[in-house]
Amino acid sequence: MAESPVVVAIDGPSGTGKSSTSKAVAVRLGLGYLDTGAQYRAMTWWMLTNGIDVDDPAAVAAASAKPSIVSGTDPQNPTITVDGTDVSAPIRGREVTAAVSAVSAVPEVRSRITELQRSLAAEAPGGIVVEGRDIGTTVLPDADVKIFLTASPEARAARRSAELKGKEAADLATTKEALARRDAADSGRKTSPLAKADDAVEVDTTELTLPQVIECVVTLVEEWKRRG
Ligand code: DC
Repeated sequence: MAESPVVVAIDGPSGTGKSSTSKAVAVRLGLGYLDTGAQYRAMTWWMLTNGIDVDDPAAVAAASAKPSIVSGTDPQNPTITVDGTDVSAPIRGREVTAAVSAVSAVPEVRSRITELQRSLAAEAPGGIVVEGRDIGTTVLPDADVKIFLTASPEARAARRSAELKGKEAADLATTKEALARRDAADSGRKTSPLAKADDAVEVDTTELTLPQVIECVVTLVEEWKRRG
């Protein structure tokens, strides 16, 4: 008998191992994978490329329906295109990273992207792991398993610096400061801020290796399946 689909929401700030964990859990359990941060980054990339002032919420709102953002949900090969162009590399650049919190705070952007996320989750045949900031609270409040990953500011900055190594490397203090700024913007915005759902399991990853975090999430999903 085919197993019933499971929807797993993994939220938390950056530098907590969210993406690596979510992808690996999806591969282990044969589920789809959706990186919702990539969708906000793709929207931001389109705004910057088309000369929209990202600090003008009305201009961002007015343009938010224009780009066609398509996410592939294969965890082994997650793809993202905007109007048919592969943007997986440019959305990780410094310009997009600096502008994404402002763009993702605009309610029209959030409602458009939330709609995309809900339909991708509903279409995933065997289930899906969706990672973001507001998945357990707003996008998929009925998700079967909800995880909220945290880590100390020092651990997060060290991981982020390691990720950026050789590309746009900055010193640890600057990285820590940039993370804190983005956290404050993401947690402080009015529309669906970064937050832990009441029924999410919080996992502090500060002292854990990536394989340990993956194991912990896989165990929580398997426990849910046994109960179901
Ligand atoms: O996970 P990330 O760093 O790629 O996310 C980029 C930005 O997108 C982040 O600063 C906040 C925003 N975001 C959001 O507002 N809601 C989500 N579900 C995912 C990301």
